Amino acid sequence: MKVVGLGGDEPVEGTADVVVAIDGPAGSGKSTVARRVAEGAGLRYLDTGATYRALTLALLRRRIPVEDAEAVADAAKAVDLTLELPPGRAGAARVLLDGVEPGLALRTPEVNATVSAVAAVPAVRELLVGLQRSLVGVGGIVVEGRDIGTVVWPDADVKVFLTASEHERARRRSDDTEGGGETAETLARRDALDSGRAASPTRAAADALVIDSTTRTIDQVVDHLLQLIEAARATRPR
Ligand code: DC
Repeated sequence: MKVVGLGGDEPVEGTADVVVAIDGPAGSGKSTVARRVAEGAGLRYLDTGATYRALTLALLRRRIPVEDAEAVADAAKAVDLTLELPPGRAGAARVLLDGVEPGLALRTPEVNATVSAVAAVPAVRELLVGLQRSLVGVGGIVVEGRDIGTVVWPDADVKVFLTASEHERARRRSDDTEGGGETAETLARRDALDSGRAASPTRAAADALVIDSTTRTIDQVVDHLLQLIEAARATRPR
């Protein structure tokens, strides 16, 4: 597992700009918000969920029994997973599995149904958190996930935990074809597993700002975060 610049060998350009952590359960709107905030603020973007999904896809392709934590931990070490930085200082980092971007293969019902079991294995989290930290360390990035503010980057300059009612989250997910049109049942099961697991469960950091997006528009949440970023940039040495 490694992090590379665009093209594979370019030196990675570090920045002194802010790190923004956006955590929350599935369907809270965090992917849409995180992408839009990164675009609006001219920051890089990392979807850490895609790293767990790519690893899960690799294990499914290798026919590893995902309920067997030991087999998962063993097989995970051999998976060829790369995070590729976008060119310049903005844009989404690409997740490559065996050198190829898996695209919608990350969003199938099979991956939705198994990713939480894989993400609950401590050895998997250790590997992927290490990979994610190497990229976040470059700076100037919006990172979305479940444990960014608590584990991956507790020193983030802006820390937000996005929530929405269960009903609203299920509604958004079933509307979202990129999310695989996940059913309310699968979503609820995945959230329960992600929040109930022993290893870094989905949780708001003590110093995170909790934003309930049930009754707010995406625009309102994005604007709020852009203001927080502006304030954080103003106080940060650059
Ligand atoms: O964000 P997502 O729904 O694509 O994430 C897929 C799964 O990956 C999610 O069910 C739990 C896991 N995950 C995690 O454990 N930690 C993260 N930082 C991000 C995702």
